[in-house]
Amino acid sequence: MPEADDKTAQDYAPQIPQKTEDFFLKGSGALEWGMKNRLSRIFNPASGRTVMLAIDHGYFQGPTSGLERVDLNILPLVPYADSLMLTRGILRSVVPAALPKSVVLRVSGGASILKELSAEGVAVDIEDSIRLNVCAMAVQVFVGGEHERDSILNMTKVVDWGNRYGIPTLAVTAVGKDMKRDARYFRLATRICAELGAHIVKTYYVEDGFETVTAACPVPIVMAGGKKIPEIDALRMASKACLEGAAGVDMGRNIFQSEHPAAMIQAVRAVVHRDETPEKALALYEELSRQP
Ligand code: R5P
Repeated sequence: MPEADDKTAQDYAPQIPQKTEDFFLKGSGALEWGMKNRLSRIFNPASGRTVMLAIDHGYFQGPTSGLERVDLNILPLVPYADSLMLTRGILRSVVPAALPKSVVLRVSGGASILKELSAEGVAVDIEDSIRLNVCAMAVQVFVGGEHERDSILNMTKVVDWGNRYGIPTLAVTAVGKDMKRDARYFRLATRICAELGAHIVKTYYVEDGFETVTAACPVPIVMAGGKKIPEIDALRMASKACLEGAAGVDMGRNIFQSEHPAAMIQAVRAVVHRDETPEKALALYEELSRQP
C-alpha cells in the first residue's frame, strides 16, 4: 500500500539546491559512474594521488628479487598501498579475496626477457577482469618499439572493452629500443596513450622537463619507480614527480627491494599523500626500520 502523502514542502528542502560534485581527477569528469567509482578506489579522493604497489614484474621476468615469495614478502605491505598492480595468476593463487584494496590487473603479456619485449598481446579476457572485480586493466605500450603498432592496438582494444563495462585502462609506457628516456619521448608516448583512450598513464620520471610531460597528458600520470636506487633518491624522485604534476606512483622495485620494504612504502606514502619532504620521509623510513 502506498504511504500516505502527508509530507510538507519542507520535507523536500526545495530551498537547498542539489550539489553537483566535480570529480577530483584530471580529465576524468565526463566518465561514467562506474569508471569514476573504480578510479576513486585507486586514487585517494582526499589527496588526489595513489601509492600503487607494482608487483607484476613476473609476467615477463619471472621471480625477480623481492618477488620470490609474494605471500611472504608482499602481503605484509598491502595495508600501506592504495592499490595493488599484479597478474591474475598471483592474484588468484596468493592474494586473499578479502583484500580491502583495489586491484589493477596486468592484462598484456606474451613476451619474456629472453626475446623481444614488445611482442605482447592482450593476455586476459575482459570477462576475467570483470570476474576478478578489478578497478583497472594495465597494458604495456611500446612507442618506438619493434611492435609499436600491435602494442598500441592492444591498448585500444582493452580501452574499448573497459569502456563497455566501466573499467579504466592504465597504459604503461615502456621505453622503445632506440628512444632516449627524456621528456620529449615521454610527452610523445603518454600523449599517444591518452589520445587513444587510456584513463591513466604510467611513465618514468625524468629530471629535465617532467612537468611538461604531466601538463601535456590530459589524464592522470603515475610514476614508475624503475631500478632500485638508494631510498633517499627514490623518495626525492617520488616527491619531485608529485610536485611536478604526477597523481602518485606505481612503484615496485624501490619498495620491495628495499632492505625494509614496509618502512619504505610508508615513507613513500608520506611523500605522495602528505607532501612530506624527502628528508623527513627518510627519517620516517629510518625510524620505522629500527622497529622490530
Ligand atoms: C614492469 O614492466 C611493470 O610494469 C612494473 O609494474 C613497472 O615497471 C613498475 O615497477 P618498478 O617501480 O619496479 O619500475
